[in-house]
Amino acid sequence: MTGNEIREAFLRFFEEKGHKVIPSSSLVPQDDPTLLLTSAGMVQIKPYFLGEAAPPSRRLASCQKCFRTTDIESVGDSQHLTFFEMLGNFSVGDYFKREAIAWAWEFVTQWLRLPPERLWVTIFLDDDESFEYWREVGVPAERILRFGEEDNFWGPAGEWGPCGPCSEIHYDMGKEFGCGKPTCKPGCDCGRFFEIWNLVFTNYNQDKDGKRSLLPKPNIDTGMGLERTVAVINGKKWVYETDLFAPIIERISDLAGCKYGQDEAIDHAIRIVAEHGRAITFLIGDGVVPSNEGRGYVLRRILRRAALFGRKLGLNEPFLAQVAQPVIAQMGDIYPELPMNQNLILGAIHSEEEKFGNTLDTGLEWL
Ligand code: GLY
Repeated sequence: MTGNEIREAFLRFFEEKGHKVIPSSSLVPQDDPTLLLTSAGMVQIKPYFLGEAAPPSRRLASCQKCFRTTDIESVGDSQHLTFFEMLGNFSVGDYFKREAIAWAWEFVTQWLRLPPERLWVTIFLDDDESFEYWREVGVPAERILRFGEEDNFWGPAGEWGPCGPCSEIHYDMGKEFGCGKPTCKPGCDCGRFFEIWNLVFTNYNQDKDGKRSLLPKPNIDTGMGLERTVAVINGKKWVYETDLFAPIIERISDLAGCKYGQDEAIDHAIRIVAEHGRAITFLIGDGVVPSNEGRGYVLRRILRRAALFGRKLGLNEPFLAQVAQPVIAQMGDIYPELPMNQNLILGAIHSEEEKFGNTLDTGLEWL
């Protein structure tokens, strides 16, 4: 299945379960002082969870553009991304754990056809209810692991807000992908187990002092990383080997006159340029402009990082606007703001990259 097929299947599945499909909100959160950038599908759902606004339906589903700054330095490895798409289903005081678990299982085993024997789940330490519901759908007890706050409690997304215990689905890529240690299980950082879906049982609101109180009603907030899921389904360890990245990698390789997959140092630089090139396209498409603070600084930082790694590939002149082109061409149908803002995106990338290039060249002359 391609990225487009999985995105479409997810939304259709939840539509059939009575969910209203809503469009992704902007990467720039609206009226949310707790967040620099939209980091999860639940960001636009928060006011509904908090009872501050009425939802268009109590069952919602979306494919949300997300950006996380925490992983910038890890970009280029097999799984970490700054920009990614998150598939999610949400219950605003409607269904709770039993349905969320049963539907997640149905989707991954019947619609995505992932072999059940490769799936593991994790739950919060004392969440016996979830344990029972996973057993009900047929997960053997030995593949249900219990973890504490660090791994199985999600949120809040910003300094305060809705949060709750969570339960994750992990996919076993196979022994050949792992470290071989007898203790290797979901949570091991060797890369054998891919977390693909996080189901959050959002029944708390956490205030600025970290104090948690019950929300008016228990809610469901789930997040399934699209890129990882596409990788898993196609048996790829690298999200960069999926169709979502193929045209971008191809464009960079063409520009640099090299081939992906022949030299690890070159591949690493190509991956960083591909990831950051995609991310800056989406950030500018949502109205972020380069600056020295806030989200504008995040944009400036990753654009410069992409330009620097471009230099490692011999790309010394501005080239990133040409990396943005296949992103816009590939994603324009899903995110019309990209083609709508195409000239602005390409122009902003070019002028920021040119300025940075001039600064670098002047600096290098001094050495
Ligand atoms: N909001 C659920 C997640 O980001 O995993």
